[in-house]
Amino acid sequence: MASHATTPTSTPVDALTELEAATELATLSAEIARLDRHYFLEDAPLVTDAEYDALRRRNLAIEARFPHLRRADSPSLKVGAGVSERFDKVRHAVPMLSLDNAFSDDDVADFVGRVHKFLATHGGRVDFTAEPKIDGLSCNLRYEAGKLVSAATRGDGAEGENVTANVRTIADIPTVLPPGVPDVVEVRGEVYMSHADFAALNARQAASGEKTFANPRNAAAGSLRQLDASITRDRPLKFYAYAWGEMSEMPSETQSGMIAVLKSWGFVTNPLTVVRADAAGLLDHFHAIEAQRAALGYDIDGVVYKVDRLDLQVRLGFVSRSPRWAIAHKFPAEKATTILEDIEIQVGRTGALTPVARLRPVTVGGVVVTNATLHNADEILRLDVRVGDTVTVQRAGDVIPQILGVVDDGEHAARQTFVFPHICPCPLKTPVNREVTAGGDAGVISRCSGEFACPYQRIEHLKHFASRRAFDIEGLGEKQIEAFFNDPELPVKEPADIFTLARRDSQNLKKLKDKEGFGATSVRKLFAAIDERRTIALERFIFALGIRNVGETTARQLSRAYGNWEAFHDASLKIVAGDLAAREEMDAIDQIGETVIDSIAAYFGEAHNLGVVERLVAEMTGGIVEAERPKTDTAIAGKTVVFTGTLDKLTRDEAKAQAERLGAKVSGSVSAKTSILVAGRDAGSKLTKARELGVTVVDEDTWIAMVSG
Ligand code: IVH
Repeated sequence: MASHATTPTSTPVDALTELEAATELATLSAEIARLDRHYFLEDAPLVTDAEYDALRRRNLAIEARFPHLRRADSPSLKVGAGVSERFDKVRHAVPMLSLDNAFSDDDVADFVGRVHKFLATHGGRVDFTAEPKIDGLSCNLRYEAGKLVSAATRGDGAEGENVTANVRTIADIPTVLPPGVPDVVEVRGEVYMSHADFAALNARQAASGEKTFANPRNAAAGSLRQLDASITRDRPLKFYAYAWGEMSEMPSETQSGMIAVLKSWGFVTNPLTVVRADAAGLLDHFHAIEAQRAALGYDIDGVVYKVDRLDLQVRLGFVSRSPRWAIAHKFPAEKATTILEDIEIQVGRTGALTPVARLRPVTVGGVVVTNATLHNADEILRLDVRVGDTVTVQRAGDVIPQILGVVDDGEHAARQTFVFPHICPCPLKTPVNREVTAGGDAGVISRCSGEFACPYQRIEHLKHFASRRAFDIEGLGEKQIEAFFNDPELPVKEPADIFTLARRDSQNLKKLKDKEGFGATSVRKLFAAIDERRTIALERFIFALGIRNVGETTARQLSRAYGNWEAFHDASLKIVAGDLAAREEMDAIDQIGETVIDSIAAYFGEAHNLGVVERLVAEMTGGIVEAERPKTDTAIAGKTVVFTGTLDKLTRDEAKAQAERLGAKVSGSVSAKTSILVAGRDAGSKLTKARELGVTVVDEDTWIAMVSG
């Protein structure tokens, strides 16, 4: 190469004087422009991508520290980062999961105990990393052949938003990795904003009459999720790398080793990461970090503990959406006092009446709180809160703020006690029933008895149906659902009505596009978004029905076990009809018990629901598909396995988890449907029954050979 680029000066950006910064920005601008000319116009790059990248990053870092020094000819303003209409979706190659929480020292000891118990057969020492839990938003960065090819937010864990153009403007994130890295590398970590940058951004926003942000996390999210990447470029975002997704090759065998590798590849990793061998060690580090929390200069909301050895992480696996090998130890929630201005009653999807506290706005841990949940009638009695009282509120993470108690201001006794309504606030004014528990006692939940007739319940049902974790229909948010529900021309009273909107609209004289709040483009988009959902994953479909006690995890288990809609539907109808074999079969599904089965039976036992479901299924013209096909290419795929007796090399939990990972179903009881009985030491009646039924029986060693083959 004939002419070399100026390398960035070695002075750390934090140590630059204003004059030095201005001088360097001028040099960088000229130099990058010269390199660009050669690269784009003369097709003759003068430097390697990595060198070029280093210059751009240096330029961005200096600008982030001295925003007012940014030059009109700055290279950061030049890249034509396209303005997309909205974010494209990116499907994560490896799902982005969440973490279970621990709130006390005991929870941490339990976590460490659970890990040891699960890995009992491993016997030896288990090390854990402890790293700060950064309060920002997580992001997956994908590199192919060492180059950044895409960046996506977490989204719902399976699919996130494509924020590649925006991420390219973040100085902490390399766009090129050093030579020799694996072909496919996905780095995960947290995009966040420092306290100082947050304060400066809000000051700038306020000065220019623009919206300010409630806290650094919101500022980071708002800045990353900008359709115009040139706005992101002006926002000083930072990034800590702490995890990975797909990797064509693993460069280390431990979590701590991986973090060191990420650092060597040019990522910023958190210096407060340590390795400890037991709960006491982890707690020491937790308290040490807690003591420094205010001085860190960025928000953290806890400490994450992870099993250090990656082979042990694999053995531990996952439960639902969280790994068994990690936990987030949260700092105690923040508190504040304010005035309770009113208590309103909200009617939920199942008719449950929930009292909601309307509060005089107060800032709790950087967020303005105006509502808190009061849970139920008993909670109001227990707290003895009355409208007008001064109350203590607490906010922990993303959960709805809670009222902890009343602060006596001398007037409390004179205020009226709250009378929980006996009549539903819905237009039907139906009586409210207090739930009765299985034991015959009064439960805590009061429900509107209007069921399908209650418009409030129906609207909540529809909101649940269209929500992000269910049908996820873009452009059909809560407000639109309320409007459609009450619309005289295009009423939407049940899920199937959503899918007939376009047809009905074309038959109407007064078209949706002419209504306020709509327009030809938004209507077209809405109808297209609805049409897209005529193909839906079975687990989403089941979850969207809103069957009581059937949350996302249960819906996923059912979807995996039955594999298709017809099988699940048939089994449910059989259970309604009293078929005991069908009930037993459902009972054998992992994590599903009587409560869920009773709720499913109650749902499908209701003629109204059968109609709703039938009309909806008819609209699913693209099919209700099983999202995650269980593995089919393993020796035990599709088999039903029962474990009995004492296992010596695996714990029972580990054996079960492993079988499920390889596509088998694990059942607790032996029947004609059992494919394999794994008999450990001292196996008893199950072994006898399996022999009687002619089920294949294997010992632990044979089983291990089968699953490791
Ligand atoms: S590990 C499978 N490590 O916390 C586990 N997460 O509640 C993957 N977070 O979505 C996450 N700091 O946004 C991990 N040091 C850290 C973290 C961290 C912050 C966030 C992340 C994640 C959420 C999980």
